[in-house]
Amino acid sequence: MIKRIGDLFALSTDSASCCFKILPTGQLEHLFYGKRINFGDDGRLLDLFAQDCKGAAGGSIAYDDASKFSLDGMSLESSGRGKGDAREPFVEVENADGSMTTDFVFESADVDSCPAEMRTLPSSRGCREHLCVTLKDKNFSHILRLHWNVYPECDVITRRAEFTNGSGASVRLRRLMSAQIDFEGDGFVAGDFSGSWAHEMNLNFTPLASGRHVVESSCGVSSSSANPFVMLGRGGVSQDSGECWGFNLVYSGNHYECFDVESGGRLRFVNGINPKEFSFSLAPGETFESPESVASYSDNGWNRLSRNLHRFARLHIARGEWSDRERPILLNSWEAAYFDIDQMKLLSLAEKAAAAGVELFVVDDGWFKGRTDDTRALGDWDADEGKFPGGLAPFVEKIKSLGMKAGLWVEPEMVSAESELFKAHGDWALDIPGKGHSEGRRQRMLDLANPSVQDFIIEKMSEVFSQADISYVKWDMNRAMSDVYSRSLSRDRQGEAAHRHTMGFYRVAKALVEKFPHILFEGCASGGNRFDLGALCVFPQIWASDCTDALRRVSIQEGYSYGYPQSAFSAHVSASPNHQTGRASPLETRFNVACFASFGYEMDLRAAGKGDLEKIKRQISFYKKWRGLFQFGQLRRSRCGDLVEWTVASEDSRRAAAIVFRARGGDDLPLARLFPRGLDPSLVYSVGVVDSGGERALGKAGGDALMAIGARIEPGLLRGDLSSAMFLLEAEDGE
Ligand code: DGJ
Repeated sequence: MIKRIGDLFALSTDSASCCFKILPTGQLEHLFYGKRINFGDDGRLLDLFAQDCKGAAGGSIAYDDASKFSLDGMSLESSGRGKGDAREPFVEVENADGSMTTDFVFESADVDSCPAEMRTLPSSRGCREHLCVTLKDKNFSHILRLHWNVYPECDVITRRAEFTNGSGASVRLRRLMSAQIDFEGDGFVAGDFSGSWAHEMNLNFTPLASGRHVVESSCGVSSSSANPFVMLGRGGVSQDSGECWGFNLVYSGNHYECFDVESGGRLRFVNGINPKEFSFSLAPGETFESPESVASYSDNGWNRLSRNLHRFARLHIARGEWSDRERPILLNSWEAAYFDIDQMKLLSLAEKAAAAGVELFVVDDGWFKGRTDDTRALGDWDADEGKFPGGLAPFVEKIKSLGMKAGLWVEPEMVSAESELFKAHGDWALDIPGKGHSEGRRQRMLDLANPSVQDFIIEKMSEVFSQADISYVKWDMNRAMSDVYSRSLSRDRQGEAAHRHTMGFYRVAKALVEKFPHILFEGCASGGNRFDLGALCVFPQIWASDCTDALRRVSIQEGYSYGYPQSAFSAHVSASPNHQTGRASPLETRFNVACFASFGYEMDLRAAGKGDLEKIKRQISFYKKWRGLFQFGQLRRSRCGDLVEWTVASEDSRRAAAIVFRARGGDDLPLARLFPRGLDPSLVYSVGVVDSGGERALGKAGGDALMAIGARIEPGLLRGDLSSAMFLLEAEDGE
């Protein structure tokens, strides 16, 4: 709900509210973002909470002679430079005269039910409540439009901004954030997700006491070192209680999130495009739009926050035929054979997969001409006829005759220096002319800021996806940016290169996913190096990590689960010992962990023993029955000592599945219990356990008792290292 009551703007979702008002001097004073408030019809109550605008104390700057207050002491909706607010700014612009001061004041406001699509970037869809406030710069007539989208059922409010050069001369935009939110009080803790290749999404909590806590990426992608999803908690927030906020960005390029704590007990949060190494030149009348920023609030702890964001990502970010469809069980050739593939080998693997019940067979890297290892051939997207006689079409038909669909790996944004494409178009690579280049995975990035390069990729990939009956595409991207320079931009516009590259990626990916609507696209960037809401606007799922080790996957997938739904990340059962860590783990545990995602296998089934193949067959038929719940169910995390528990429950709470995972085994588990969440307290559930023998009934209990007292876990189930147990709960029909 969006209400305007005089100078007050009040935005409410089912459980949260956010409000601000126009100050007599024209700035927007931020009043509150938290638990839902009843604003009534006159909003008078809020007078009590508005800030004291009088008196610029000590050395602070008075905004103007008439009002004599300082912007530095205020909570604001957007801040500039040069008028007294020294905290993280929202907008920075270098005017034609070299000055950088901005002074934006209220001009007008519009509420409507259908926000216009963004022109240059992907954004949320399906909004029915939208507010746009227009501010005007007093000195240069620049226009700043602030947009809010309200998604009541997800408890999500999004923000974004547009800057229009209103002066008569060109200006250089130095920063345009997406959101600014000022909080009052103390005791805040920031939650963010750091990592690296094969170690994605490690959750860190940092108490915010003073100074700036920054999360950012500057390597051209959202990056596994700092996911753009961050959280804020107050006091002793836990999984199921306490106040917390989550913030994300619908953007896949260089991003910036900053918690700026002022000594006076004020906290400012901003997020947006990373202003470092960024600038954008705008001629008079030209407009720049910042990515959409997503915010959610929960007063029921992190689990509730995650469920808000899961629902939002499923309903308002994911698009296309696959956004809400159950995902097929696939077998991927990468960890089964790496580059050592050919038709014969893959068909013998495919026969095993089909016999086990796999639905989709994916040919990973190595299928195109000259691609014998990772040093060559990216860009030369024609099938290697030595490996696939007659090309991919006959091979795909054979896969289909086994009862499976076929999928293919590509890495469209790259070129190898050793390739025909590079010989013909060396100038399409992103590098500084005449200077040495720092390679990543021995390959170059194509310059996606260049429209000719974008057109080439769209055309070439259209051919690749049409050469055979392809049902799935894994879209990989295996290096970060270095030596950033686009030959398609003039010298003074190189600060635009990284952002224009990101816009180019969206143009290319969107054109292809829309041209091939039946294909299920899976994003990948050396695992999770581009895992964000922008990528999820084009790809319904993303390969979570190149690490398939069960122990590490527990923490990686749990990390993702804070901000992203299970359907958005994929997980595969791989060989033991694991290829990345060398760690051995039971097949049951590898399966149980991978279940809580878009699921598949990535191992040489020809090398699996008869016993394991039988188990895999049973796993697949079990997953087919329950996958809707695993991929789209409402997730809750909990931890008891070293036991990790994840539960997924159906929307109506009648079905649930839970896994309990134990990293280090032993016989000291007398009190281990399963505490399922999300059940209906008034219903009776039959509880079963799934083990290698199939499903086994354990007994019946009320939902209230199960959630309060828990169900005892037989000690034998969790004895070994990396052991786990999967439980199923189904409500009995009422008497
Ligand atoms: C990196 C990906 O993350 C892997 O899964 C695999 O597809 C390789 N690239 C192939 O080169």
